[in-house]
Amino acid sequence: MKLAFVGGTGPEGLGIAMRMAAAGHEIAIGSRSTERGEEGAQKVREAVPGATTSGGANADVLAEADVVFLTFPYSGQQATLEALVAQLDGKIVCNVVAPLEFQQGVGAVALNVAGNSALQEAIQQLPGSRVVSAFQNMSAEELQHLDHAIEADILVCGRDVEAKQVVIGLANQITGVRGIDAGGPSQSRYVEMLTSLLINLNRKHKTQTSIRLVGL
Ligand SMILES: NC(=O)c1ccc[n+]([C@@H]2O[C@H](COP(=O)([O-])OP(=O)(O)OC[C@H]3O[C@@H](n4cnc5c(N)ncnc54)[C@H](OP(=O)(O)O)[C@@H]3O)[C@@H](O)[C@H]2O)c1
Repeated sequence: MKLAFVGGTGPEGLGIAMRMAAAGHEIAIGSRSTERGEEGAQKVREAVPGATTSGGANADVLAEADVVFLTFPYSGQQATLEALVAQLDGKIVCNVVAPLEFQQGVGAVALNVAGNSALQEAIQQLPGSRVVSAFQNMSAEELQHLDHAIEADILVCGRDVEAKQVVIGLANQITGVRGIDAGGPSQSRYVEMLTSLLINLNRKHKTQTSIRLVGL
C-alpha cells in the first residue's frame, strides 16, 4: 500500500513509517517544509535499506496515498486539517494524535478537548474522509528500534468498520503487535488519554511501556 504521513518528520511518524516500510509499504513523509519532508524520507531509507520512500510538503504527499497517518501534535490539528480537507477527501485517515501537555513537576497531562477526543474532532473536520484512530499508545522509540521486538496491542477506534480493518491489518504486520477493534469514535478518548499515563510510567520506571490486554 501507499502510506503518507502528515507531520511525518517527528519521532512517532518516522517510527510508524519505518515499521511500515519494513513491511514492504511505500512511504511518503509530509512536513510543513518540503525540505524536511525529503529529509524524513531519507531517514526512513537509511533505517530500511531498499524502502520506497518520498517526501515533501504535507499537501503534496497525499494524492497517491491509500492510508494517511496524522502524526503531529494536537495543538496543530485544527489548522492542519482545515488546510487539507480537499486532499484528504475519500481517504482512510489514521489519527495518531494524543492531546496532552507537559506540566512542570507533574509530567504529561491528558487534555480535555472540546470535541471529546482528537478523533471525534478530526471526524467533524473531515466529513468526506474515513477517519479512525490508532497507534497513540505506541512509543516512538520502540517503533524506531527496528531490531527490537515489540509486544503491544494497538487499539483502533472509529465508525468506519472497513477502514478500521485496514488499519488493524497494517498494525498486525508489525511483529508482536496485535491490532484490535476498540469500538466507535467516543472510545478514542480513553485510548488517547492512556498515552499520558504511559509517558509518566516510562519516566518513573526508565523504560518504554506499551499496553497489552488480557482476556481478549
Ligand atoms: N513520540 C511518541 O512516542 C508518541 C507516542 C504516541 C503518540 N504520539 C502522538 O503522535 C503525535 C506525533 O508525535 P511526535 O512525538 O512525533 O510529535 P512532534 O515531534 O512534536 O511533531 C511531529 C511533527 O509534526 C509537525 N508539527 C509540529 N507542530 C506542528 C503544528 N503546530 N502544526 C502542524 N504540524 C506540526 C512537525 O513537522 P514539520 O515541522 O516537519 O512540519 C513535527 O516534526 C503527537 O500527537 C503525539 O501525541 C507520540
